[in-house]
Amino acid sequence: MREFVIKTVVSEFDFVEELPAKYAELIFQARDAAVAAYTPYSGFRVGTALLLQSGRIITGNNQENAAYPSGNCAERIALFYANSQFPDEAVTAMAVSGINKDGKINYNTVYPCGACRQVILEAEIRYGVNIMLYFDGGSRIRSVSSVRDILPLCFDQSALLRGGA
Ligand code: THU
Repeated sequence: MREFVIKTVVSEFDFVEELPAKYAELIFQARDAAVAAYTPYSGFRVGTALLLQSGRIITGNNQENAAYPSGNCAERIALFYANSQFPDEAVTAMAVSGINKDGKINYNTVYPCGACRQVILEAEIRYGVNIMLYFDGGSRIRSVSSVRDILPLCFDQSALLRGGA
C-alpha cells in the first residue's frame, strides 16, 4: 500500500481591488449577473463572468425549473453560451459570485458544483488552456489557476480512449 498527498494552492484576496484589474472586473460582472438569476425555488442567486481570449466578457446566472433537475447552474449556462457563440475562443478566466435571498452579497464563498467542475475541465482540455477561477466571498476572494486544482483524479477523455473493460 502506498499513500500520496494531492496539494492544491489557493490564493486568497481580502478585497476585490487587490486583484489585477481585468479579474476585478470579472468579479463585478459576476455580481451584476447574479441579480438577474431566476431562482424561485432556492432563492440562491449565482452569477458567473467569463473572460475570453479576445478580452470579451460573457456572463450568465442560474436558471431554475419546477422540475428541479431541468434548471442549470450559472457556470454551465455561461460556459455553454460562450462555447456555442464563440467556438474559436478559449475561456481564460471565470468568476463566480452569489447573492442571498435578501439581495445582499453572499459572504460564503461560492464554489462550482461537481458537474460544473467537469464542464470547466472539458473547456480547459478542448482549448488547451488553464482557466483562472475566482470564487467571490465578498470580503474574501479565493482563486486557483486551473479547475484541476479543485477536481483532482478527474475523469476525462483519456479514460474513454483507453477503452472500457
Ligand atoms: N448553483 C449555481 O448556479 N452555481 C453553483 O456554483 C452552485 C449552485 C445554483 C443551482 C441552484 O439554482 C441554486 O444554486 C441552489 O443550488
